[in-house]
Amino acid sequence: MYQFIAGLPKVELHLHIEGSLEPELMFELAQRNNIDIPFANPDEVRAAYDFSNLQSFLDIYYQGAQVLVTERDFYDLTWAYMLRCKADNVLHAELFFDPQTHTARGIGFDTVMKGLTKALAKAEAELGISSQLILCFLRHLDELSAFDTLQQAQLWKEKIVAVGLDSSEVGHPPEKFARVFAAAREQGYLTVAHAGEEGPSSNIIDALDILQVSRIDHGVRCVDDPQLVARLVEQKVHLTICPLSNTKLKVFDSMDQHNIVDLLRQGVSVGINADDPAYFGGYMNDNFNAVASAHTLSHKELANFTYNAIDASFCSVGRKYELHQQLQAYVDNQ
Ligand code: HPA
Ligand code: ZN
Repeated sequence: MYQFIAGLPKVELHLHIEGSLEPELMFELAQRNNIDIPFANPDEVRAAYDFSNLQSFLDIYYQGAQVLVTERDFYDLTWAYMLRCKADNVLHAELFFDPQTHTARGIGFDTVMKGLTKALAKAEAELGISSQLILCFLRHLDELSAFDTLQQAQLWKEKIVAVGLDSSEVGHPPEKFARVFAAAREQGYLTVAHAGEEGPSSNIIDALDILQVSRIDHGVRCVDDPQLVARLVEQKVHLTICPLSNTKLKVFDSMDQHNIVDLLRQGVSVGINADDPAYFGGYMNDNFNAVASAHTLSHKELANFTYNAIDASFCSVGRKYELHQQLQAYVDNQ
């Protein structure tokens, strides 16, 4: 099983690039930029990663991101993640980034974009991994700040495929961003949103109806509303599920309680993703392995996670075809 997973072609659609900051790189960047962090070594950082819910994680995650200052820092961060993609046979990745976390500290939008896009171009050329960028608005900040961020993205529009919504879900429902998402759609961006992670299933409905999202990030609480599950199946709405994230943030008590396999078998388009791998204990293969050790899954079902992700991805029709072919060849050779 683990061997099948290791070789399985994968597509990652839910990955926060700031959440791939490993403690070792955090230390290196803190030193490079003369920034104080309240830890003596990377092991101490790891020991602090004991979360009780989403907010307890977000507090540490935003603190960690403070070491990212220069274009080179963003490049190093992104390149390190793309090397992990290569190791896990991820052929296509769609990365979230949180510009407000950086611009609020005086880091230029351009600085972030230059670092990210240079690493992604190199990964495409040298590793053969295609990618897309998704700009996320922080939902705990106000609408005006989101509009300001959308404005700053103007010059980089060709490099950003979609806008998304992340950070604290409870108390910050989708409708808070109805107007900025409408403006983004008018400018030609696709849309996605975190919904139904810790918040109610009604947030999933509102993300679909008000924000007109192409897919839902997390979405695991859809099971509280059977009519909604039927709608997801019928309208082929994809959920980018993050199993290790959900257990680390206590959305589920344990992996055997996770509903991803039930959803797959009910016909919902679900995929497996890492979310914030440096904080939640693993990249793509680790997430697949964790699900496969807690649930009995056939090879076909494991491959279906990738088929679903390919279909839901924002890459070109031609690239989707290539990805399908590679996956099919792998499955046929088993
Ligand atoms: N949920 C909400 N916001 C986030 C997450 C998440 O899982 N990861 C990084 N920002
Ligand atoms: Zn996320």
